[in-house]
Amino acid sequence: MSTAGTEAFKARRTFAIISHPDAGKTTLTEKLLLGGGAIRAAGQVRARGERRRARSDWMKIEQERGISVSSSVMTFERNGIIYNLLDTPGHEDFSEDTYRTLTAVDAAIMVIDAAKGIESQTRKLFEVCRLRDIPIITFVNKIDREGRHALEILDEIQEALALDVTPMSWPVGMGSDFFGVYDHIGNRFFTSTEGRGGPLDTIKDVKGLEDPELIGELFDNIRDELEENVELGGAGYSEFDQESFLEGHLTPVFFGSALRDYGIDQILDFIAAHAPSPHSQPATGGRTIVPEENKVTGFVFKVQANMDPKHRDRIAFVRLCSGTFKRGMKLKHVRAGKPITVSAPIFFFAEEREIAEKAYPGDVIGVPNHGQLRVGDTLSEGEEIHVTGLPAFAPEILRRVRLTDTMRVKQMRRGLEDLAEEGLVQIFKPAIGTNWIVGVVGVLQLDVVVDRLKAEYQTEIGFEPVMYNTARWAECTDPLKLDKFLETNRAHVALDRDDKPVYLFKNAWEVTYVGEKNPDISFRETREIV
Ligand code: G4P
Repeated sequence: MSTAGTEAFKARRTFAIISHPDAGKTTLTEKLLLGGGAIRAAGQVRARGERRRARSDWMKIEQERGISVSSSVMTFERNGIIYNLLDTPGHEDFSEDTYRTLTAVDAAIMVIDAAKGIESQTRKLFEVCRLRDIPIITFVNKIDREGRHALEILDEIQEALALDVTPMSWPVGMGSDFFGVYDHIGNRFFTSTEGRGGPLDTIKDVKGLEDPELIGELFDNIRDELEENVELGGAGYSEFDQESFLEGHLTPVFFGSALRDYGIDQILDFIAAHAPSPHSQPATGGRTIVPEENKVTGFVFKVQANMDPKHRDRIAFVRLCSGTFKRGMKLKHVRAGKPITVSAPIFFFAEEREIAEKAYPGDVIGVPNHGQLRVGDTLSEGEEIHVTGLPAFAPEILRRVRLTDTMRVKQMRRGLEDLAEEGLVQIFKPAIGTNWIVGVVGVLQLDVVVDRLKAEYQTEIGFEPVMYNTARWAECTDPLKLDKFLETNRAHVALDRDDKPVYLFKNAWEVTYVGEKNPDISFRETREIV
């Protein structure tokens, strides 16, 4: 790769925000975009004339195809660093989507509500990050409200998540006595001229804890607490260690208030200085794709349908892993074994989209297509390679599809297949009988399926309960043994959308029982999508 290409990817920071609903992810996202001068990366990346042309090209496509894409990726540039913030759905019913998005990031910000500490969804998402060794930056939000003691929160993160923590700043009071944030490392005091609880508008350079600029106005109890925090914090927690952070063993903790702008610039500065540039990506055949490689590779981690019923177009979100992508490139769609010309790739900014002329590892481009691309697909410059590590999860809710108008079987199947390719549901075709079964992780997904089949495929469906409550992928190193098992258990067997066999279980007890009776067969809760 040219030096320019290498430099370009090293300036990329691709990350997501994980949190429990209500902790402040949306507010923080907005503030990061604002702090990044939002909105768009363009500026120094492209010449002006090119930009104008790029934008009008995009608008034409948008009009012709009526594509509407919500802000799944938000890119912005600040001080020469390109930030790609990947959005994750807030509701836990869509957690599969979130898990897959996390395969496309290099770091994550974990937002914690200062009053609530670690909540269930935070913990779940954190575990996914840990499995992938994704470095985590912690943001303790809402310190402008009454919250828990700073040391208590740090201890909870350390103990509940088994992580080393490094406090990067301290709250100066909380709730009604909130004075601001003290950055003991950079010796700065972030505060407000409006007094306690006001929005951040002043940054004072201070000379340590004794500086009257910092402690002059504080109440005695707050000054004592701050001194105690800094002293105990310095002794009781790890010093920041870059390697440990990159390996996912240590998290830097920033205290702040997204609503009142505290901590935003510190997080952005930290990401620029310490978050990793695009990482290498595991692939089939024991290969590891490194970003420095000359040839382009990328993978689809999300597919979003066009919500306009007149069109079937979809946007596949492709995370680039290596090479310098140029608009109009012909890439190999590895699963289909066919070439695909990417003539209208899209960059997403906070408020608009542009045709992507060039993109580098770490970037996410949207590729409009008619359904050829699905989650897990790899695009390469000819190499027969699949990026690995994108999981499909065993559904926790199974329902049989009931069709109101039996003349519309074809449309229903087409619709369900499309939605399965987007990753919204899983479909299972029972070995006996013709009615498909759909599997989801959360019930809200079922409502979305009903609505979308009606709106986009003019097909009304309902769901009926089935006697099963989970499915597991059946695998065996000996294909003959697997065939025999499947044949003798046909009543419980179904095929997923890739014709991979699953065994349908009535309950958790049966999972154990059937597993013990058939020690040669493994019943897997997740399957790699390849
Ligand atoms: P989410 O995306 O994680 O679900 O959270 P979101 O940002 O929507 O924030 C949830 C609520 O918490 C919102 O209040 C938001 O204003 C508030 N909030 C976020 N950050 C802070 C903060 O730093 N300090 C304080 N005091 N509040 C914060 P809401 O009443 O639910 O919504 P809204 O009517 O204010 O928009």
